[in-house]
Amino acid sequence: IRRHAMEANQTPHFVQRQDYAAPDWLIDKTDLKVQIFDDHALCQVRLSVRATADNRPVILQGEGIELISVTVDGRHLSSPDYEVNGGELTIYTVPDSAVIEVSSKCNPYSNTALEGLYASNGMLCTQCEPEGFRRICYYSDRPDVMSVFTTHIEAPTSFINLLSNGNLIEQGEAGEGRHYALWHDPHPKPSYLFAMVAGDLARVEDRFITASGRTVDLHIYVEAGNEHLTAHAMASLKASMRWDEQVYGLEYDLDLFQIVAVSHFNMGAMENKGLNIFNSKFVLADETTATDDDLARVESIIAHEYFHNWTGNRVTCRDWFQLTLKEGLTVFRDQCFSADMHDDGVKRAEDVQMLRTIQFAEDASPTSHPIRPERYAEINNFYTPTIYEKGAEVIRMMHTLMGGAAFRDGMDIYFDRHDGQAVTCDDFLAALNDASQTDLSSFARWYSQAGTPDLTVSRTDETCLHLKQALMPTAAKTATDPLPLPIRLALIGSDGQPQPFSINGGRVASEHVFLFDTAEAMVELSPEQGQSLSGAVPSVLRGFSAPVRLHDDLNRQEIAFLASHDTDPMVRYESFQRLFHEAISLRLAGQDDSAVADAVAAAAQTLLSDMSLRDDFKALALSVPGQAEVEQRNMPADPVAIFRTRIDVMASLGRHLHDICQQMTGQTENYGTASARALVARLLQLAVCAGDEQVTAQAETLSDNQNMTLSMAALKALCLVDRPESERALKRFHDRWKDDSLVIEKWFMMMASSAHTATVAQVSELMTHPAYDPKNPNKIRSVLGVFASANPVRFHAEDGSGYQFVTDELLKLDAQNPQIAARLGLVLTRFGHLSEARQQQMRLCLEGLSSHELSADLTEVVSKGLGKG
Ligand code: TRP
Ligand code: ZN
Repeated sequence: IRRHAMEANQTPHFVQRQDYAAPDWLIDKTDLKVQIFDDHALCQVRLSVRATADNRPVILQGEGIELISVTVDGRHLSSPDYEVNGGELTIYTVPDSAVIEVSSKCNPYSNTALEGLYASNGMLCTQCEPEGFRRICYYSDRPDVMSVFTTHIEAPTSFINLLSNGNLIEQGEAGEGRHYALWHDPHPKPSYLFAMVAGDLARVEDRFITASGRTVDLHIYVEAGNEHLTAHAMASLKASMRWDEQVYGLEYDLDLFQIVAVSHFNMGAMENKGLNIFNSKFVLADETTATDDDLARVESIIAHEYFHNWTGNRVTCRDWFQLTLKEGLTVFRDQCFSADMHDDGVKRAEDVQMLRTIQFAEDASPTSHPIRPERYAEINNFYTPTIYEKGAEVIRMMHTLMGGAAFRDGMDIYFDRHDGQAVTCDDFLAALNDASQTDLSSFARWYSQAGTPDLTVSRTDETCLHLKQALMPTAAKTATDPLPLPIRLALIGSDGQPQPFSINGGRVASEHVFLFDTAEAMVELSPEQGQSLSGAVPSVLRGFSAPVRLHDDLNRQEIAFLASHDTDPMVRYESFQRLFHEAISLRLAGQDDSAVADAVAAAAQTLLSDMSLRDDFKALALSVPGQAEVEQRNMPADPVAIFRTRIDVMASLGRHLHDICQQMTGQTENYGTASARALVARLLQLAVCAGDEQVTAQAETLSDNQNMTLSMAALKALCLVDRPESERALKRFHDRWKDDSLVIEKWFMMMASSAHTATVAQVSELMTHPAYDPKNPNKIRSVLGVFASANPVRFHAEDGSGYQFVTDELLKLDAQNPQIAARLGLVLTRFGHLSEARQQQMRLCLEGLSSHELSADLTEVVSKGLGKG
């Protein structure tokens, strides 16, 4: 069944934030019985409803399910006492307090959208956020309808494990080779947090003692044979639970916490109350199957879903426009957790890199939206880098301004006030504001205005900075008023140390946070008595204290100085990035870049010999800016030329660092820690690009290493060049891992991302590989997704063949899984920075798509891409 199928060229129907109205009916109690059969499932849902308004019918949503019967207080209804129309069941004349029972039938086995109840490798599981519950049974599945759930699951005994939210109350035989389990969740919750699983799974157990001394059982369910890959996930879960107690004073609130790993999953993971469901790639990992980055990602996603227990579940969203209330806040929390577990400087630089490549690009595209959107056609399309990552930045800015202690006070107020409620972003802002010294009211603008501000900082003289901000209009057409920008600022003296100074006559300190919330401002900098600021270099936006594009008047020498000396890791990283950008831009313009290349090399030498710095920081600082970032800065962008130029710049640095690359990549003592391996990976890349024979041979050897980080580091380096070593190493990796469903995704990704291995014909071929599963989002992403977003040479082929191929695949995909199709479809809307010819080709593809009957999901993306709102 195609949901909300659109007529060709129809414009979508939008839900508007301003139209919010409180529900007419509340559901105090929900008793759900699900009976699983070989080719369908029956659902009986009993609702204890209570009216909040007079004389309103009860309206329940249902999608792709078959209504069987409706009773009110035990009495069977027939038409016209109820009516089913366009996905809505309307029940008339219900007493103010009543028990409604609705029976319906669904088919989990034919559900390829992976929303609602669906099958994955023989197990059944659910995904209900945001509106998947209506695919299981008729319900009012809006987040402000919160209910206490009791769930009865009945299934053939071949489904050994029957799981749901909360606590297991009862289980037993149900006759004819069937059994049942009864679960009760005492915490009222919106239905998007409902989950159930039926399967034959292996269980790994552990326990956690909370700060107040309660024991919580921890269960991770995986397919049999994968138990040995759960230790990292379990350790991450326990670390998250401890961290939330220590940093926020938040304890877990049930006696059982369950995680289930599922192969077919649209996103990363889902925070269902007491029963998190995960994409298996974010659970199953050890150092032989996953890289250090993968392991860190697993840890952060486990933490993210766990942290939702308070930020999302105990305090939830009133409506889906408030999505960033839980997602931005929870991303902020998981970022802080990862920083505490590893290194905050490295973590921050990684997060900023990702924000700038993905979120800044989104804000510059036809799908730009503020972190609290005003309207949507399909809410699934709003699980975006803007809602998540920019949402986290907005919270981080308030944290920076308030300081950690006041921020924590604000969070305490938020939980005290709103525990058990469905609330808004304004409620959150009000709680923080009540704990803040600084007035935060202007931060409301960050919630309503889309776009990336441009911040310009220039020196009018040695002791005065002129600040200017501007917000360019976006496709979202929201206001462009000045935004509150906390600017962390230092002055680095010639000794490399921050010099004490005061701002506008205030107190003296070696670093300040200046709140810049007007279009322009002058900042007077004064030295400590008897000192001078002469020659000090401004270090602006330390820690990337606001999500802006910074423009300043530092010269190359000053930038190189900060690259070598700034005490702030973010600015130091940033200074390297700027030098790289300059080299790339010069080369793209056909100009000589040798002077800046020399400056990069000199700064790199200083960096590499600095024993006080972590190796993983060094690795990050020496990473050439990503394709998307370079494209945004060199418009109209030629992605093919940019890709080649980025490799050339890596090669040039690799030649400069020839000795150290050879030396460090060959020493096994550099293989022992994640931090050291990160640097080995970077140097391998530089030297392989530079054509270093010795290191290339070394990379081929390392590609067979038992440690996945080293193996992948070598392979990724080799994939940047067209050499026999690359081909041989890829082949051996394939043969080693072809029967491992998760690891082979890495091979798919490497194959799909390289110009040498992924022409359109070769990608089609990959999609017939025995390990390719056309219904599995991970596989689709690792082939089609990677081809479209990480193979610039083939995707942006001049003849348009890359775009056309993706378009054809999109059409097939949309009939199957609209959520995944819409996400992939975004690549065809990211053309604003390209040449007119490529823009035209992409538009033609979008027009081609719009002449077909598409899902609501893809329709919204296509029509935005075509500039039709
Ligand atoms: N709430 C989930 C998270 O951020 C997101 C999510 C998981 C989701 N699965 C989904 C959103 C499916 C939409 C559809 O942790
Ligand atoms: Zn989340």
